[in-house]
Amino acid sequence: MISLGIEGTAEKTGVGIVDSDGNILAMEGCQLFPEEGGIHPRIAAEHHGEWIPKLIPKAVENAGISYDDIDLISFSQGPGLGPALRIVATSARSLALSLKKPIIGVNHCIGHVEVGKLDTGAVNPVSLYVSGGNSQVIAYESGRYRIFGETLDIAIGNCLDQFGRETGLGHPGGPVIEKLAKKGNYVDLPYVVKGMDFSFSGLLSAALRKYQKGVSIEDVCFSLQETAFAMLVEVTERALSHTQKDEVMLCGGVSANSRLREMLKTMSEEHGAKFYMPEMKLCGDNGVMIAWLGLLMCNEFGPMDLSETGIIQR
Ligand code: KG4
Repeated sequence: MISLGIEGTAEKTGVGIVDSDGNILAMEGCQLFPEEGGIHPRIAAEHHGEWIPKLIPKAVENAGISYDDIDLISFSQGPGLGPALRIVATSARSLALSLKKPIIGVNHCIGHVEVGKLDTGAVNPVSLYVSGGNSQVIAYESGRYRIFGETLDIAIGNCLDQFGRETGLGHPGGPVIEKLAKKGNYVDLPYVVKGMDFSFSGLLSAALRKYQKGVSIEDVCFSLQETAFAMLVEVTERALSHTQKDEVMLCGGVSANSRLREMLKTMSEEHGAKFYMPEMKLCGDNGVMIAWLGLLMCNEFGPMDLSETGIIQR
């Protein structure tokens, strides 16, 4: 069985094609870079609307297949930016209708986890999924995926990106902050873990205040990373202890950060758990993870009824 997946929940859009053995036949994508400020949902939708029709034929050609070979159209159903999600769903529905193929909508966050398992060989990990729009600790427990902890406000990637924009470091802020943090020392910032959840908006405001008061950018970047990542690792550690699992996986675009990887790996090893991270090209948003999760879900639950996809629910 061959699945074509369409992703486009935030500023990236992508089309991936996989077969039921987990072979990646094609992976095409592109990213919107805003001229200034953050990602505007309408601009993201326009970007995806322009690119999805170009990425689909490119993926099919690169996979060396014909449209007839496709057995399933998968698309990211959410969470994400509303206008962008509508473009993705409409594109998937049009393709499924024109090819007369079944369709399935899938959860973006679980897509990250499942493609991570496919790539790393992890079987049943506690996953820390960290990106520009989401920050969650997820694990499969008692017959379903459960969120063990998540952000109470903004995502960690959004926190880093906003800090980068406000201090003139540019967008995305994460990679620049990581570089500057290497030369920094610790200054005190608020550490906020409430129950199993974390919060980054107060930390962001406090970090900006430190910078405005003259603390060096290197020191603020170092302290922002250390504080935020310790919060993420604490909640993952608690979920690991609670579930008694023996695998930890890091996924999402913020996994690119080597300090976060180091902290999570150390914690995992202290608990005798194996640490996994998918290869970087599969950590960011991509169509392959959607195509793969679509296949898994279709095997388990069957496809959607096309008439359902006007307002898509699963
Ligand atoms: O999953 P992803 O590719 O897409 C979205 O969620 O949109 O994640 C993008 C996020 C951005 O917030 C970016 O700043 C962050 O990943 N990021 C990093 C690094 N590289 C990318 N954060 C920290 N350190 C990095 N080296």
